Amino acid sequence: MTDSASVPLRVAIVGAGPSGFYAAGQLIGDGFEVDLYDALPTPFGLVRAGVAPDHPKIKTVTKAFEKTAAKEGFRFFGGVELGRDVTPQELEERYHAVVYSFGTATDNRLGIPGEDLPGSHAATEFVAWYNGHPTYADHDYDLSTERVVVIGNGNVAIDVARMIVLAEEELSPTDTADHAIERFTGGATQEVMLLGRRGPAQAAFTNPELLELGELARADVIVHPEDLELDAASEAWLASEDAHTTNRKNVEIMRQYAAREPEGKERRVVLEFLWSPVEILGEDQVEGLRVVRNEITAGEDGSLRARPTGEEKVIPCGMVVRSIGYRGIPLDGLPFDERRGLIANDGGRVTEEDGSVRVGSYAVGWIKRGPSGVIGTNKKDAADTVARIREDTEQGLLAGERASAEEVEAFVRERVPTLVTWDGWKAIDAHETSAGEAQGRPRVKLVRVEEMHEVASGVTR
Ligand SMILES: Cc1cc2nc3c(=O)[nH]c(=O)nc-3n(C[C@H](O)[C@H](O)[C@H](O)COP(=O)(O)OP(=O)(O)OC[C@H]3O[C@@H](n4cnc5c(N)ncnc54)[C@H](O)[C@@H]3O)c2cc1C
Ligand SMILES: NC(=O)c1ccc[n+]([C@@H]2O[C@H](COP(=O)([O-])OP(=O)(O)OC[C@H]3O[C@@H](n4cnc5c(N)ncnc54)[C@H](OP(=O)(O)O)[C@@H]3O)[C@@H](O)[C@H]2O)c1
Repeated sequence: MTDSASVPLRVAIVGAGPSGFYAAGQLIGDGFEVDLYDALPTPFGLVRAGVAPDHPKIKTVTKAFEKTAAKEGFRFFGGVELGRDVTPQELEERYHAVVYSFGTATDNRLGIPGEDLPGSHAATEFVAWYNGHPTYADHDYDLSTERVVVIGNGNVAIDVARMIVLAEEELSPTDTADHAIERFTGGATQEVMLLGRRGPAQAAFTNPELLELGELARADVIVHPEDLELDAASEAWLASEDAHTTNRKNVEIMRQYAAREPEGKERRVVLEFLWSPVEILGEDQVEGLRVVRNEITAGEDGSLRARPTGEEKVIPCGMVVRSIGYRGIPLDGLPFDERRGLIANDGGRVTEEDGSVRVGSYAVGWIKRGPSGVIGTNKKDAADTVARIREDTEQGLLAGERASAEEVEAFVRERVPTLVTWDGWKAIDAHETSAGEAQGRPRVKLVRVEEMHEVASGVTR
């Protein structure tokens, strides 16, 4: 879209994950010019640093994002961190609109004693480590422990459990970071326990991910038949219209698992239900997890909740991974909804503390609506935010003179002399894929920002 003098309006998008890319594609389609920023020299957000490396097909969504990047009016500003290198105000002054799409990079906390003991880890960090995110490349995880407990019953918990038990032949053709392959293949973990605070009917797994657990080369999946004797409230809910087909199918799959005779594979993934963590135990290192038995009760709004019964037990384990959801990090100069862990917004328009709209500022993706939904969910979400930008443009709210494309680039380069452009990323990409080819892997990831800069530095555009 253009202003009254037919000059394209210029938009900064901060966060080059799926939501940022979907918004960029739609805005360029509408005639806006887009600068897509990311804190990392590499694009694609959780598609690169979250999606499990043994799911390469899912990562092919980046082909669509590459098409967007090839369009006129698109620029990538990699290695520029909002809050460190530039402020929201500095961008808002220079662009007609700023769209925040920087995701939810930290973890929800359990709030129980022992949560910070060595050996108690956030899934957010563990996942980023095995995916080669530079911030976590120096982390280390001791997988010599016999049992790992993963708290949570979502797809991230399944990813974590699966990665720990993958066989070498399943792991070696992937783009898992080299440091993680070394740890996984040298690991001695016999059992990964997935701990759900509610029952099988309420698990947040999706069907293909749950089915995949039953097809692992070196691990049996164990479900206790007694856990499939559902309480009356869960039975009634599953039979009602409120339940999703996914939940019904999950229970069916788990019934099949419960009826299976374990094949005696080297490792096990054990699904345990109706236990909440109360305390992570240990002196200098995790030694166990104290849990309380729950029962399912219906809340006033009809939702099914976990209520502690008072019965407790201790699960011996040497490592705990807390996989209970992601959370946004507040950033100076941006209104934050502390309760939900998001940028305060109304349908994608950023809102101030008094509820008024901050004209020209928008949010999209996980930092707008919370950490749920698959990659494709962000396409519709981006369409909703872009529709608000279009409306505001048509109302003349975004008009006015702003910095030119050249002025903005000069400003950013002054702050970040190591700026990585799209061509710079393509050089990193070529380097990684060519290293991968030699090993029959999609890529060997660079995990140090300095190495990325070095590879990108031959590129001047
Ligand atoms: C472990 C995991 C596995 C998943 N697996 C799948 C899957 O298999 N299939 C599927 O469909 N969905 C999957 N999802 C969901 C999917 O990844 C999300 O829906 C999607 O990535 C959310 O997109 P986003 O753009 O909002 O955030 P993100 O993907 O998190 O992107 C945010 C971007 O912002 C950047 N950023 C952060 N802070 C700043 C800052 N201060 N300045 C500049 N840039 C910043 C980050 O570097 C990142 O590139 C998975 C999610 C997780 C957590
Ligand atoms: N392959 C894929 O498609 C894929 C892979 C990974 C992620 N994703 C998507 O990414 C999104 C995020 O996944 P996620 O696994 O992080 O989140 P999620 O699906 O929201 O699951 C979070 C889990 O944590 C549990 N939990 C929350 N607080 C807890 C507490 N205090 N104690 C114990 N358990 C607690 C929840 O239980 P309750 O239900 O009881 O609250 C739930 O089981 C999801 O939409 C997911 O589908 C998709």
